Amino acid sequence: MLDISPIRAELAATYDLSPSLAAAEATRDIWTRMARVMPFADWATHAPYVLAINRLKTERDAVILGHNYMTPQVFHGVCDVVGDSLQLAIRAQGVKARVIVQAGVHFMAETSKVLNPDKLVLMPDMAAGCSLASSITAAGVEEMRRRYPGAPVVTYVNTTAEVKAASDICCTSANAAQIVAALDAETVIMLPDKYLAQNVARAVPGKRIVWWDGACIVHEQFTAADLRDYRQWHPGVRIIAHPECPADVVAEADFTGSTSGIIDYVGREQPGSALLVTECSMASNIADAHPQVDFVGPCTMCPFMKMITLEKILWSLHSMTTPVEVPAHLAEGAARAVQRMIDLSRKAG
Ligand code: 13P
Ligand code: SF4
Repeated sequence: MLDISPIRAELAATYDLSPSLAAAEATRDIWTRMARVMPFADWATHAPYVLAINRLKTERDAVILGHNYMTPQVFHGVCDVVGDSLQLAIRAQGVKARVIVQAGVHFMAETSKVLNPDKLVLMPDMAAGCSLASSITAAGVEEMRRRYPGAPVVTYVNTTAEVKAASDICCTSANAAQIVAALDAETVIMLPDKYLAQNVARAVPGKRIVWWDGACIVHEQFTAADLRDYRQWHPGVRIIAHPECPADVVAEADFTGSTSGIIDYVGREQPGSALLVTECSMASNIADAHPQVDFVGPCTMCPFMKMITLEKILWSLHSMTTPVEVPAHLAEGAARAVQRMIDLSRKAG
């Protein structure tokens, strides 16, 4: 666990991080991308961090890869590349800078590292995990192989490098159905997300899909009854769900897709109101780009994604910590499973 008090003291001694309207003015163009969800006075508390981080990025030859679930001040303020898991994995491969800071959870940093073994990949907080990634180990993969001999293992990228290395191919929420459909096998093992597997089973009816009993602690909270209530409360609302939600929730939705699929759908359809059945920073991050869309619904946060703050990103670049290391024998296997996914996904268009 990061001990934040000494970190805060060293940062305060090195950078001017007090709330500052002058810093807010100097970065007003960034703030306009989140003006609908953040008063300008609040931006004055973030702007000094944004200025310090963006300066340090140049000094350290670093890029920040940010997931769509980052807070608006991280997402718009300091990330060089933003996207869903598939987009971040693909973009990680093209990074020219010496250092990658992963503004996301640990499995994403591992993916960046195995695809870029020569780069220094930094995690602002190593405790930023994922309930799916912690639900299974390589022993679990072997157990599934024993139970279903000969069936290929399709592993969600929300897993450790060790689990990826024990798998045949990876998938993300953006390409899971496509990957499973492309496999020449009647039975396919999908792990660790039982809900993603059940949703893929509906989308690819020709296959028998068997799954591990893992779930996302954020998406499993939504219920079909909640969604029906929202339809009553907001007539005409467009319900847009992530495939980590239970199958009956997905069945109630008008559209299901990865986090970037959801963003694209909102941009394309421009609904009058939208309920994004996913982590709540998503709506905050796109609210200003779609001023005519009324985003409704509860704020359900991923506690792991929310561990990544501007303060910890600044510390990461200041102290060049914490490097993500993957043992060579696991890195090779994990890279192979991720690369197979990227290649197949590209081929299928
Ligand atoms: P995406 O690949 O859709 O961004 O999902 C990652 C994730 O962790 C969702 O909970
Ligand atoms: Fe993991 Fe769920 Fe958080 Fe995504 S939202 S990182 S799947 S716990």
